[in-house]
Amino acid sequence: MGGVTSDSTADGTTTGTAGSTGPNSAAGPNGPTGAPPSLAVSGLAYAYPDGHQALFGVDLTVPRGERVALLGPNGAGKTTLVLHLNGILTAGAGSVAVAGLPVEPRHLAEIRRRVGIVFQDPDDQLFMPTVREDVAFGPATAGLRGAELDARVHEALARVGMEAHSDRPPHHLSFGQRRRVAVATVLAMRPEILVLDEPSSNLDPASRRELADILVELDVTVLMVTHDLPYALQLCPRAVVLSDGVIVADGETRELLCDEALLAAHRLELPFGFDPGSAKVPQR
Ligand SMILES: Nc1ncnc2c1ncn2[C@@H]1O[C@H](COP(=O)(O)OP(=O)(O)OP(=O)(O)O)[C@@H](O)[C@H]1O
Ligand SMILES: [Mg+2]
Repeated sequence: MGGVTSDSTADGTTTGTAGSTGPNSAAGPNGPTGAPPSLAVSGLAYAYPDGHQALFGVDLTVPRGERVALLGPNGAGKTTLVLHLNGILTAGAGSVAVAGLPVEPRHLAEIRRRVGIVFQDPDDQLFMPTVREDVAFGPATAGLRGAELDARVHEALARVGMEAHSDRPPHHLSFGQRRRVAVATVLAMRPEILVLDEPSSNLDPASRRELADILVELDVTVLMVTHDLPYALQLCPRAVVLSDGVIVADGETRELLCDEALLAAHRLELPFGFDPGSAKVPQR
């Protein structure tokens, strides 16, 4: 593969160019305006309290405005990495910074305002008695009230086509409907960095396409964990492969998906009949 790869070393750190800017990034790591990257992960290692080590020195830089797919097999550490991006988990070693702010207790409120995470399981996101209250929760906590809050909730639910369900309890909804509401809770916060952990799983094809339409319209940085490789190609010019807690590839999504040896080595499989070499990707 002519793409950008990195090698893991015996001590679990990564070498090579993973973590540098991707092929679609702006002039340098700080982008054309000199703004700090949206996400800067360096040497991140993490072991769960039971001793299971999930990350072994991850380096990943995502410049502002880029959309990056995070690929990798089950158990690779993708969700563990995501949970470090707003301080739900705390780095065992290494560092994580969001828009230049180190992910540390003193910055968490600001970081959580800037980074919206759509969790892998929508039931981790929805906890209020009604859909409307769940979507209002974040903006209300941020200080919105009255008509402004109502408008924000209405807009977010309309975007995911769930307005008609706003008075229902989330636990009465189907899984795909709960996923759409979970996306709305995050959109309602108007984050500048959107992190989505398998957002297309359990969505019907129309909802999957509608979510893609929303994501390309937003002027935000996106990190999208997905097993849906055509979706990664459609939405993200750059992809990163995480496997066994290390980044093993970082480059143009199409180039990665055309690398059969890379895919086979990391349990990534294209859907039957899908040819990433000839698939048309919308110009953006
Ligand atoms: N709470 C936990 N305690 C101990 N080990 C955990 C915990 N959560 C995850 N792990 C382990 O950490 C590793 C990485 O898990 P993680 O959930 O990050 O994988 P993933 O790449 O998101 O996988 P998937 O594609 O299945 O969502 C796995 O080996 C998993 O068993
Ligand atoms: Mg996961």
